[in-house]
Amino acid sequence: MNDNRKQQEFFKKAYDLGSQRVPSGYGWPMEIDPQQLKFLNIVKQSTSSGNALDIGCGQGRHTFMLAENGFDAYGIDFLERPVVEAQDKAKNEKLQNIHFKVMDVLDLDFPDNFFEVILDWSVVDHIYPKDWAKY
Ligand SMILES: C[S@@+](CC[C@H](N)C(=O)[O-])C[C@H]1O[C@@H](n2cnc3c(N)ncnc32)[C@H](O)[C@@H]1O
Repeated sequence: MNDNRKQQEFFKKAYDLGSQRVPSGYGWPMEIDPQQLKFLNIVKQSTSSGNALDIGCGQGRHTFMLAENGFDAYGIDFLERPVVEAQDKAKNEKLQNIHFKVMDVLDLDFPDNFFEVILDWSVVDHIYPKDWAKY
Protein backbone atom coordinates (compact mmCIF):
# COMPACT_ATOMS: atom_id res chain seq x y z
CA MET A 1 0.00 0.00 0.00
CA ASN A 2 1.48 3.40 -0.89
CA ASP A 3 1.62 6.22 1.68
CA ASN A 4 -1.34 8.15 0.30
CA ARG A 5 -3.47 5.01 0.26
CA LYS A 6 -2.51 4.30 3.89
CA GLN A 7 -3.66 7.79 4.89
CA GLN A 8 -6.89 7.41 2.97
CA GLU A 9 -7.62 4.07 4.69
CA PHE A 10 -7.00 5.66 8.09
CA PHE A 11 -9.46 8.49 7.40
CA LYS A 12 -12.03 6.18 5.79
CA LYS A 13 -12.08 4.20 9.03
CA ALA A 14 -12.56 7.40 11.02
CA TYR A 15 -15.55 8.41 8.87
CA ASP A 16 -17.00 4.89 9.10
CA LEU A 17 -17.01 5.33 12.87
CA GLY A 18 -19.18 8.45 12.51
CA SER A 19 -19.97 10.14 15.81
CA GLN A 20 -18.10 7.31 17.56
CA ARG A 21 -14.81 8.37 16.06
CA VAL A 22 -13.80 10.63 18.96
CA PRO A 23 -14.53 8.20 21.84
CA SER A 24 -12.83 5.49 19.80
CA GLY A 25 -9.68 7.61 19.70
CA TYR A 26 -9.79 7.52 15.91
CA GLY A 27 -10.83 11.06 15.34
CA TRP A 28 -11.16 14.72 16.08
CA PRO A 29 -13.87 17.06 17.41
CA MET A 30 -16.96 18.05 15.45
CA GLU A 31 -17.19 21.60 16.84
CA ILE A 32 -15.31 24.63 15.53
CA ASP A 33 -11.84 24.69 17.05
CA PRO A 34 -11.27 27.73 19.34
CA GLN A 35 -7.85 28.32 17.76
CA GLN A 36 -9.51 28.63 14.34
CA LEU A 37 -11.87 31.26 15.75
CA LYS A 38 -8.81 33.16 16.99
CA PHE A 39 -7.23 32.75 13.54
CA LEU A 40 -10.41 34.07 11.90
CA ASN A 41 -10.43 37.14 14.15
CA ILE A 42 -6.81 37.89 13.24
CA VAL A 43 -7.57 37.46 9.51
CA LYS A 44 -10.63 39.71 9.77
CA GLN A 45 -8.40 42.56 10.94
CA SER A 46 -7.03 42.67 7.36
CA THR A 47 -9.81 41.22 5.21
CA SER A 48 -13.25 39.69 5.49
CA SER A 49 -13.87 38.83 1.86
CA GLY A 50 -12.21 36.96 -0.98
CA ASN A 51 -11.45 33.31 -1.54
CA ALA A 52 -10.56 31.10 1.41
CA LEU A 53 -9.32 27.52 1.24
CA ASP A 54 -9.89 24.89 3.93
CA ILE A 55 -7.37 22.12 3.23
CA GLY A 56 -8.56 18.63 4.16
CA CYS A 57 -11.92 20.09 5.12
CA GLY A 58 -13.57 16.84 6.20
CA GLN A 59 -17.26 17.54 6.82
CA GLY A 60 -16.49 21.23 6.53
CA ARG A 61 -16.84 22.63 10.02
CA HIS A 62 -14.23 25.33 9.32
CA THR A 63 -15.27 25.84 5.69
CA PHE A 64 -18.74 26.76 6.97
CA MET A 65 -17.14 29.08 9.53
CA LEU A 66 -15.29 30.88 6.71
CA ALA A 67 -18.42 31.13 4.52
CA GLU A 68 -20.55 32.39 7.40
CA ASN A 69 -17.96 35.11 7.94
CA GLY A 70 -18.17 36.49 4.41
CA PHE A 71 -15.51 34.56 2.54
CA ASP A 72 -16.04 32.64 -0.67
CA ALA A 73 -15.08 29.38 0.99
CA TYR A 74 -13.59 26.33 -0.71
CA GLY A 75 -13.19 23.04 1.12
CA ILE A 76 -11.14 20.23 -0.38
CA ASP A 77 -10.64 16.70 0.86
CA PHE A 78 -9.21 13.60 -0.80
CA LEU A 79 -12.13 11.46 0.41
CA GLU A 80 -15.47 11.61 -1.35
CA ARG A 81 -17.63 10.74 1.65
CA PRO A 82 -17.03 13.82 3.83
CA VAL A 83 -17.13 16.07 0.75
CA VAL A 84 -20.57 14.74 -0.23
CA GLU A 85 -21.80 15.20 3.35
CA ALA A 86 -20.51 18.77 3.38
CA GLN A 87 -22.07 19.48 -0.03
CA ASP A 88 -25.44 18.19 1.22
CA LYS A 89 -25.25 20.41 4.29
CA ALA A 90 -24.38 23.45 2.15
CA LYS A 91 -27.32 22.68 -0.15
CA ASN A 92 -29.72 22.36 2.79
CA GLU A 93 -28.51 25.65 4.19
CA LYS A 94 -28.82 27.24 0.71
CA LEU A 95 -25.34 28.76 0.99
CA GLN A 96 -24.02 30.21 -2.28
CA ASN A 97 -20.52 31.12 -1.14
CA ILE A 98 -19.30 27.63 -0.24
CA HIS A 99 -17.79 25.01 -2.54
CA PHE A 100 -16.55 21.52 -1.78
CA LYS A 101 -14.36 19.42 -4.06
CA VAL A 102 -12.70 16.04 -3.85
CA MET A 103 -9.04 16.95 -4.26
CA ASP A 104 -5.66 15.96 -2.87
CA VAL A 105 -3.76 18.90 -1.39
CA LEU A 106 -0.67 17.52 -3.12
CA ASP A 107 -2.41 17.84 -6.48
CA LEU A 108 -4.28 21.14 -6.21
CA ASP A 109 -6.30 22.38 -9.14
CA PHE A 110 -6.84 26.12 -8.62
CA PRO A 111 -5.36 29.12 -10.42
CA ASP A 112 -2.21 30.62 -8.90
CA ASN A 113 -2.81 33.23 -6.20
CA PHE A 114 -6.51 32.35 -6.03
CA PHE A 115 -6.73 32.37 -2.23
CA GLU A 116 -6.48 35.21 0.26
CA VAL A 117 -6.79 32.88 3.23
CA ILE A 118 -5.70 29.27 3.73
CA LEU A 119 -6.62 27.19 6.75
CA ASP A 120 -5.41 23.73 7.76
CA TRP A 121 -6.67 21.91 10.82
CA SER A 122 -4.68 18.70 11.26
CA VAL A 123 -3.83 17.84 7.69
CA VAL A 124 -0.19 18.87 7.46
CA ASP A 125 0.55 16.45 10.29
CA HIS A 126 -0.66 13.64 8.01
CA ILE A 127 1.63 14.62 5.15
CA TYR A 128 4.79 12.52 4.86
CA PRO A 129 8.10 14.39 5.17
CA LYS A 130 8.99 13.61 1.54
CA ASP A 131 5.95 15.73 0.50
CA TRP A 132 6.43 18.67 2.88
CA ALA A 133 8.13 20.89 0.29
CA LYS A 134 5.33 20.30 -2.22
CA TYR A 135 2.70 20.88 0.46
C1 LIG B 1 -7.98 15.21 11.08
S1 LIG B 1 -9.11 15.39 9.75
C2 LIG B 1 -9.59 17.09 9.96
C3 LIG B 1 -10.78 17.47 9.11
C4 LIG B 1 -11.11 18.95 9.10
N1 LIG B 1 -9.95 19.76 8.78
C5 LIG B 1 -11.70 19.39 10.42
O1 LIG B 1 -11.11 20.27 11.05
O2 LIG B 1 -12.75 18.88 10.79
C6 LIG B 1 -8.00 15.46 8.34
C7 LIG B 1 -8.75 15.50 7.02
O3 LIG B 1 -7.79 15.73 6.00
C8 LIG B 1 -8.08 14.88 4.90
N2 LIG B 1 -6.79 14.69 4.20
C9 LIG B 1 -5.67 14.07 4.66
N3 LIG B 1 -4.68 14.11 3.77
C10 LIG B 1 -5.19 14.80 2.70
C11 LIG B 1 -4.64 15.17 1.44
N4 LIG B 1 -3.40 14.80 1.07
N5 LIG B 1 -5.41 15.89 0.60
C12 LIG B 1 -6.68 16.23 0.95
N6 LIG B 1 -7.25 15.88 2.11
C13 LIG B 1 -6.51 15.18 2.98
C14 LIG B 1 -8.69 13.64 5.52
O4 LIG B 1 -9.50 12.90 4.63
C15 LIG B 1 -9.50 14.24 6.67
O5 LIG B 1 -10.80 14.55 6.27
